[in-house]
Amino acid sequence: MDRIAITGGVRLEGEIAISGAKNSAIKLMAAGLLTDEPLRLTNMPRLADTRFLGLLLRRLGVEVTEVDDEDGPSMVLHAPEVTSAYAPYDLVRQMRASFNVLGPLLARTGHAKVSLPGGCSIGARPVDLHLKAMEALGAHIDLHEGYVYAQAPRGLTGAEIEFPIVSVGATEHSMLAAVLAHGVTVLKNAAREPELEDLAICLNAMGAKVEGAGTSTITITGVSRLHGATHAVIPDRIETGTYAVAAAMAGGEVRLTKTRADFIQALLDKIEEAGADVIPNNDGVTIRRNGARLKAVDIETDVYPGLATDLQAQFMALMTLAEGESVIRETIFENRFMHVPELARLGADISVQGGEARVRGVPALDGAQVMATDLRASVSLVIAGLAARGETVVNRVYHLDRGFERLEEKLGACGAIVRRLKDDRTEEG
Ligand code: EPZ
Repeated sequence: MDRIAITGGVRLEGEIAISGAKNSAIKLMAAGLLTDEPLRLTNMPRLADTRFLGLLLRRLGVEVTEVDDEDGPSMVLHAPEVTSAYAPYDLVRQMRASFNVLGPLLARTGHAKVSLPGGCSIGARPVDLHLKAMEALGAHIDLHEGYVYAQAPRGLTGAEIEFPIVSVGATEHSMLAAVLAHGVTVLKNAAREPELEDLAICLNAMGAKVEGAGTSTITITGVSRLHGATHAVIPDRIETGTYAVAAAMAGGEVRLTKTRADFIQALLDKIEEAGADVIPNNDGVTIRRNGARLKAVDIETDVYPGLATDLQAQFMALMTLAEGESVIRETIFENRFMHVPELARLGADISVQGGEARVRGVPALDGAQVMATDLRASVSLVIAGLAARGETVVNRVYHLDRGFERLEEKLGACGAIVRRLKDDRTEEG
């Protein structure tokens, strides 16, 4: 398995262009099932997760074509006919969000058999809210042998659905199903993440009638068919926040382009409070830190527009070298501190009790071998490695490849010494 080696202590100077958002792209790809005409997605990130979903969609009858032209990387999804409504365990297990094909399959064909995704390293992550939403839309749901069997032979019917907790996935999934339902659906206590709004804009370009995405009440008036469209995926706010933290950690000046600072305002406020300069502009944001040690600040993760749980591990890495004690509260997932023992291997001083971690800043970290069990935890180790003395080797790089496009290249362009060690222990780029 490939590993990433980072030689720490180099300041970052330069520019990083942010890719399209993984967590938007994979829901937009599922929308390709809803029409018999081509859906063209531009600004598509090239990631392991989009490849996994591409494999599943092909099995369901979607022609998936990746194109690189003057508009940059794009993907065309074309499903003249859905040839199978079966999403097997092997494919759903590899990428949880594949479960979100259930709603579009039901809406388009009236039936689906989709594997339950199972647990995950950051928490139990049940799909009860997704299934309740499909039932509220009139589907008959049975669970056997790890599969969801869903039926709606006469189509789905609009309903009022009030979510007991805010769920990004359940809100998106309901939207993907309700666009082709008979009548009006109202989603209350809906997630407000930018990816939701992106999905609504794409669905509306395909002829759907979705209003209120980005607020906590979304109204969807069902239509009988959707048509093809071209849609640009929004910039990845988690990639933006990750490199913002990396720049603050390593010091220097990094300009993040092709992105939106407002998507990560809660994080940028904390980076500024910690003592780095944050300079937003029309095309993104510049992060600058010269010399002075950062100060410890407290954070608590929250649903959007709060500080994203997907940025918690990275911010914790930053706090390991800050002056003072930082309290980090995780409120979204129950098991999202898997990076703590790995950061400790680099010399960080962190204690965890329940959903709260206390990080006592140390004067220096020292490189070591580390590994992580999820995507965002892995990148927090890369960030720590950028500032650690000597070499840090991050194992299980496949986690990083799921969600960070050309990470070594992007950091390397700013002067970081980051190399991929291939499986056979030879080095690349
Ligand atoms: C999305 O996951 C993201 N994934 C996650 O990013 C992100 O951490 C999360 O939203 C929160 O922002 C994708 O978009 C593919 P939720 P999702 O439903 O939709 C509970 C990454 O690294 N819940 O908002 O699965 C759930 O257990 C990933 O890119 C239920 O109880 O998150 C959690 O505690 C990791 N029942 C809370 O709700 C349900 O049916 C919020 O989860 C659904 C969720």
